[in-house]
Amino acid sequence: MRLLVVGATGLIGRPVAQRLLADGHHVRLLVRHPARARETLGEGFEYVPGSVTDVQAVDRAVRGTDAVHVSLGAEDPARLEAVEHRGTAAVAAAAARHDLQRISYLTGSLVRVDYGRKILVHRVKLAAEHAIEDSGVPFTFFRATYFTNTLPRHVRGPFVVMLGRLRQPLHPVCAEDFAAQVSRAFTTPAAADRDLYVLGPQALHLHEALAVFRRTVVPHHLLVTVPIGVVSLLDRPLVRGRLAPSLQIMRLIARLGKVGDPGPANELLGAPTTTVEAWCRRQAALL
Ligand SMILES: NC(=O)c1ccc[n+]([C@@H]2O[C@H](COP(=O)([O-])OP(=O)(O)OC[C@H]3O[C@@H](n4cnc5c(N)ncnc54)[C@H](OP(=O)(O)O)[C@@H]3O)[C@@H](O)[C@H]2O)c1
Repeated sequence: MRLLVVGATGLIGRPVAQRLLADGHHVRLLVRHPARARETLGEGFEYVPGSVTDVQAVDRAVRGTDAVHVSLGAEDPARLEAVEHRGTAAVAAAAARHDLQRISYLTGSLVRVDYGRKILVHRVKLAAEHAIEDSGVPFTFFRATYFTNTLPRHVRGPFVVMLGRLRQPLHPVCAEDFAAQVSRAFTTPAAADRDLYVLGPQALHLHEALAVFRRTVVPHHLLVTVPIGVVSLLDRPLVRGRLAPSLQIMRLIARLGKVGDPGPANELLGAPTTTVEAWCRRQAALL
């Protein structure tokens, strides 16, 4: 198939793009910085320069493809609406114009849960989901809670930092297993118009997963827990509110617990099998 990936330079988008290429597809990437993207992702991809906020660039990237995978994120919460909602809506509109067979979209597990007034990240993702549904292009929504690949983002200097104590276990899934599901979904007609929950093979508390990561990948680091209230206080002055979306999601997970049954995704697209330990050992071997 001729596939487009939007967000291929991201933490989760990159393994997806690599998997699609390895599975023999022609893979086009819409990237803001082609030289940098080529350096990270290498040859074999078709690079189309442009931002998802530029509807003409989006149209150029979508035209001539059969399907698209969207894995967008915005570092600055103030850009979420423009990038993830309106950017995804532009992709969906172009996909409809060019008669694509499928849009797959990486969204969140709590987006459709009725928990009261929605946090910004969920409002934006819900609007993006609606734009995709309204486009009439067959879709696959992937609802993930926590990717194992996020563990290295907890490293700050000589510390592995746990934000608060999350009492609910997560089911960390590694992006490489998720990528295999995305790839299979494109060639599985029964994955059209499906809302699929993506969970990893083990129920682990975040502090347990971080302890495995510290022991296996960065054994000289110290695992520290910073109370969530302290992080909230420091978030704005120190990192311009960039942690706010993660903190809000952690509070919601703590309140709502595990949401979603991974059974349908596992049955249709194969179950993720990589444990946190196995993923961390692989990471350690790469260092
Ligand atoms: N991490 C998790 O545990 C988790 C769990 C559930 C759901 N998710 C969702 O997964 C998605 C991807 O997460 P991630 O951690 O991979 O994000 P990320 O590493 O921040 O990657 C974001 C991607 O979006 C691209 N992008 C941003 N603005 C763009 C623009 N204007 N035009 C084109 N591309 C643009 C970035 O490209 P540049 O290289 O140009 O910046 C990058 O490729 C997010 O929606 C997140 O909410 C993540």
